Amino acid sequence: MSVLDLLGIESQLLPDKYKHMSVDVMEREIGRIKKEFGSRLFIPGHHYQKDEVVQFADAAGDSLQLAQLSSENDAEYIVFCGVHFMAETADILTDEHQKVILPDMRAGCSMADMADINQTEQGWHKMQDVFGDTIIPLTYVNSTAAIKAFVGKNGGATVTSSNAERMLEWALGEKERILFLPDQHLGRNTAYDLGVPLDKMAVWNPIVNEFEYDGDLEDVIVILWKGHCSVHENFRVQNVEHLRRTRPDMKIIVHPECSREVVSLSDYAGSTKYIIDKIKEAPSGSKWAVGTEMNLVNRLKNNHPDKEIISLNPQMCPCLTMNRIDLPHLLWSLESLEKGRITNQIKVEPLIAEQAKLALDRMLERT
Ligand code: 13P
Ligand code: SF4
Repeated sequence: MSVLDLLGIESQLLPDKYKHMSVDVMEREIGRIKKEFGSRLFIPGHHYQKDEVVQFADAAGDSLQLAQLSSENDAEYIVFCGVHFMAETADILTDEHQKVILPDMRAGCSMADMADINQTEQGWHKMQDVFGDTIIPLTYVNSTAAIKAFVGKNGGATVTSSNAERMLEWALGEKERILFLPDQHLGRNTAYDLGVPLDKMAVWNPIVNEFEYDGDLEDVIVILWKGHCSVHENFRVQNVEHLRRTRPDMKIIVHPECSREVVSLSDYAGSTKYIIDKIKEAPSGSKWAVGTEMNLVNRLKNNHPDKEIISLNPQMCPCLTMNRIDLPHLLWSLESLEKGRITNQIKVEPLIAEQAKLALDRMLERT
């Protein structure tokens, strides 16, 4: 027994015993503990999670659905199968007595990491100098709690890919300009669909604390934070062109985290839920090239054997951070709970949580 065990403090690294367990044993144990805890335990799972994890999810959903479910659920323990920002959101939206656990703390999101709070505060001061009090900040939920708090205290809201259009429309009615963090592609694609011309969108480069824009800054309506999803940026114009040449019979559907060029060349673009629903409703025999995370594409393929479904990029990998959550980590979290310990709790600082909740509530009220 280690000193940490003696002190009742769980170390944050997966204990060795879980690395040598068979899949059968892990599945049996997870099922047993789930049954034992009953409604005291809730396991939400994002659609990008591995099948081995999704099979144990009490609810599978996209970011918006999981945020809504977390706010409505009363379970004592929420073992969140997704990435860090989603677990933070769940902690912010749940009551004090509820504990949110992320089975592996390394399950982060490279896009969320692209908007650092110090850079944001610094950039905001400069933007205020240029534009005065004309900007409302919006942040994709794929951001840290600190960024959500910044947005909340400055009158803005969070958005997800499912409600981005509605939220941008709202924001444009509130102020002359929007600052959209941290995904430039979702911001650009959504603003474009709402009729904002591309030449009225400036990119904000947080590394050099400067705009990337050729025109007159007075014309800017949307300021796009220079961040992106390292998974969705791997769908390229060349993939679309190749598919159009080799498989003109296929429809292309992509997530709006893909670049403007890829979205504009595709047949359809929309959130994770939109993609799932569109393919589900499509006629048997239809053919789809999908531009989103690979675990989901494979699941769509398995769930719809009557349709032909491929990835838009044949070299595509799953989201590596989503994939950190696996059977060993899930079992570790549950066995710890059974022993009366909490491993990897996500706890957002109270002031940050309060301000971030303002931004989340403004979104949930309008969804
Ligand atoms: P949605 O679940 O909002 O579609 O977001 C996709 C994503 O990249 C989650 O990390
Ligand atoms: Fe982050 Fe992209 Fe992975 Fe979603 S798919 S968790 S945005 S890196």
